[in-house]
This record gives sequence, C-alpha cells and structure tokens, in this order.
Amino acid sequence: VNSRARQLLNKAFFEAERATWLYTAPNPRVGALAMKSGHIIGYGYHQQFGGPHAEVQALRDAGAWDPNANKAIAGVVDQMVVTLEPCSSTKGKKQPPCSQALLDAGVQQLLVGAVDPDPRHAGAGLSQLRQAGIQVEVAETWAQSRFEQQNPAFLAHLQYPTRPWILLKWAASLDGKTATDGGVSQWISGPESRQEVHDLRALSDAVLCGKGTLLADDPQLTARRSPEAYPRQPKRVMVGGLAEVQAEAKLFESSQPRIWACGLEDQLPTWLSLQFPDDVCLRVPGHDHGLDLSTLLQRLHQDFQVGRILVEGGAHLHGSLLQAGLLDAVVRYEAPTLMGGSFASYLGPSCQHPRQALSLEHEERRDLGKDLRRAFLVQRRSASPTTPDKSTEA
Ligand SMILES: NC(=O)c1ccc[n+]([C@@H]2O[C@H](COP(=O)([O-])OP(=O)(O)OC[C@H]3O[C@@H](n4cnc5c(N)ncnc54)[C@H](OP(=O)(O)O)[C@@H]3O)[C@@H](O)[C@H]2O)c1
Repeated sequence: VNSRARQLLNKAFFEAERATWLYTAPNPRVGALAMKSGHIIGYGYHQQFGGPHAEVQALRDAGAWDPNANKAIAGVVDQMVVTLEPCSSTKGKKQPPCSQALLDAGVQQLLVGAVDPDPRHAGAGLSQLRQAGIQVEVAETWAQSRFEQQNPAFLAHLQYPTRPWILLKWAASLDGKTATDGGVSQWISGPESRQEVHDLRALSDAVLCGKGTLLADDPQLTARRSPEAYPRQPKRVMVGGLAEVQAEAKLFESSQPRIWACGLEDQLPTWLSLQFPDDVCLRVPGHDHGLDLSTLLQRLHQDFQVGRILVEGGAHLHGSLLQAGLLDAVVRYEAPTLMGGSFASYLGPSCQHPRQALSLEHEERRDLGKDLRRAFLVQRRSASPTTPDKSTEA
C-alpha cells in the first residue's frame, strides 16, 4: 500500500489501541475509519465483547447509521479503513455482519490491515465485498504483524474453538486472601471495583459460580448499575449439589436464566422445578473432585452459545479450573488491607518450584478507588502448576 494508505491504517490501529482485551476478548481489538472524498469523517473501535464492531462504530461516528433501523445509511461514507477484514458470517454472532453494513452504506473502497487469522472466516468477508464490486486493498505483512501484536487474547483463543473464553475473577487483600477463615468476603474490594465487576458480568455470556460461594455469599450474579440498566445480562451457571439451595436465595429474585450444573444422576428439587420451570438442569459427568468442568464448558458453548464466561469463585472452583488448564485470563481486585488466615485465591496443589508456576502476561492495570485492578492473560507456552518440571527431576 502507498504511504497515505499506511498513514490511514496507522490511525486505525491507534483507534484499536483504545480497547482493552479485558473487555473485548475473545473478540479482537479492531479499529476503523469512515471516510468521504478522501477525508476522515468517523472513527471507531470495538469496545467490548457483544457490542458493536469497529466498522459500525465508525459509521455511527460519521452519522452514517440509523439507530432505529439498526442499519447503515447509504451515501454518507464512500471509503473505509479497518485493521481487520470485516466479518461476514452471522453464525454465533451478536451483531449483524459488518460486510453487510459496508454494502448498505454504499462504500466503494476498503483498505484492510489484516486478513482474519481464524481459518473459519479467513478471506470470506473480502471475497464477498469484492464480488459486490467494492475495491478492496489489503496491506502487507507489517499490518498483519501489528494486528497480531495487538491481539494476543484473540489469537490464543483460536486454539480453543469448542469452549468459551474463560476469565477468573476475585477480590483479595494485599496478603492474597479472598475470605476470612469464617468464610466472609463481602466486601473486600471497594465500590469502584465492584462496579467494574458488574460491567464484566454485563459483557459476558455467562457467570459461573461454585456451591460454596452460593451458600456463603448469597449472590444475585446479575449486572447492576443504577439508575440505568445494562442492555445485556449473563446466564447464571451454578455448580455443585442442589440439596442446600434455598428458595429465599437472592439468585431467585431475578428472572435472568439460571443453569444448574449437576451430576448425571441428579435432578432439580421438586420445589425448584415447580416454582421456576424455566430453570435448566445441565447434567455432566463427574469425577473424584466434582463435575467434569471441561465437559460443562463445552456444553455451555455448544448448547447455550456461551462465548465468554466470567468465573466468580470460589477458591475450590478456581483450583479445579486451574488444574485442568481451563482458564484464559485472570482479573484480581487488590484491596489495601491485610486479612490473614488461610483462604487463598485458589485452593489446589502448589507447584514444586516457583519456576513451574503458571506465567501471566499482557497486564491490564488500573487504579479503582483505593484498589488496584490487575488483569493478565495466561501465557500459553508455560507448563501448568502440576506438570512435573523435567529440569528438577534427578
Ligand atoms: N473474594 C472473592 O472474590 C470471592 C469470590 C467468591 C467466593 N469467595 C469466598 O469463597 C468461599 C467459597 O469458596 P469455596 O472454595 O468454599 O467454594 P466454591 O469453589 O464456591 O464451591 C465449591 C463447590 O462447587 C462444587 N463443585 C462441583 N464441581 C466442582 C469441581 N470440579 N471443582 C470444584 N468444585 C466443584 C462442589 O460442590 P458439591 O460438593 O456439592 O458438588 C464444591 O464443594 C466463600 O467464603 C466466599 O465468600 C470469595
């Protein structure tokens, strides 16, 4: 591409930079420009999972989007610049395909940074647009590399197309404790941190919670922000025996979907199925330490279209996921307190040597009130904490 095209793509990559993987994963960070007669008239980036894609954001910014019809307005924009090829498939998507939005807008020229590395989509959007008569130009490998550098979470998750992207979240004191020895954890973190957790719930397809947490904390597991409500709510998935679940639990105060993951022989208590007939009993095989979480996550992906899941504890559930290698990222809200006791962020066997610890990378750090929020991606190359390290074996 020529130097002007390179300059435009750099601007679009700069837009993508405004997003954080914590909010977009497993979707990529993408930036877009909407242009008319060679001038940029709209900027956009994909801000969060489940939200509008960068192309639509740029069309909106340019005044080329009709919110009532949820459709592009023709003739306002004639060229678009996007860091990633526009999506063209509707399968599993929460948004209409961007290729259609570009056609509706009457775009004549498209400049693209990277071809979609997902083999299920690679090049399909570009072919569709070329066939429709749009002049499509794709940049050289420098742009593909820049896209890849910006998108470690998206690229890593392409290896796991049959399960959701899994984010573990917890609040802890400075000494790493997530509850008192008596099991009390409300509240360790401050209001700003708790508000962000509501944001993370709202952009997740599901929230996962262990029975221990359910009984100790009595959570609602909904996304709440007063006065305005969130447009999306997660499905709520609970794991563990159902015998101790009470009708008075706060989970039942809202009608957002509830999925009870339990053993193959289990069923919902009669009172629960009678009072809440829409509640789902999802039976999965078990083993010595509880339910087979890999099967559970695959079922949630395939049968309930869960592409992103937020795991809200507790320590045993986190420990099982960690041991099974079923996590993509962690987010921790650290309060400036010392709690003492033995309730760690996750319970499970430790590694034999610190060099065997699971490595975390690509930190997203933010001050939230008095707390420090740190989010990390799991480094895919490293061994799991329980994998024997050959270098230490005699
Ligand atoms: N600070 C924070 O951010 C935070 C967040 C959440 C919770 N907490 C605290 O953590 C405590 C609860 O944590 P917890 O560790 O006791 O309980 P938990 O992890 O919430 O739940 C564990 C239960 O889940 C069920 N389960 C089913 N399959 C499992 C599997 N494969 N692996 C693990 N569990 C499985 C089991 O119930 P069955 O035996 O019935 O199958 C197990 O007893 C509470 O004190 C809560 O306040 C703190």
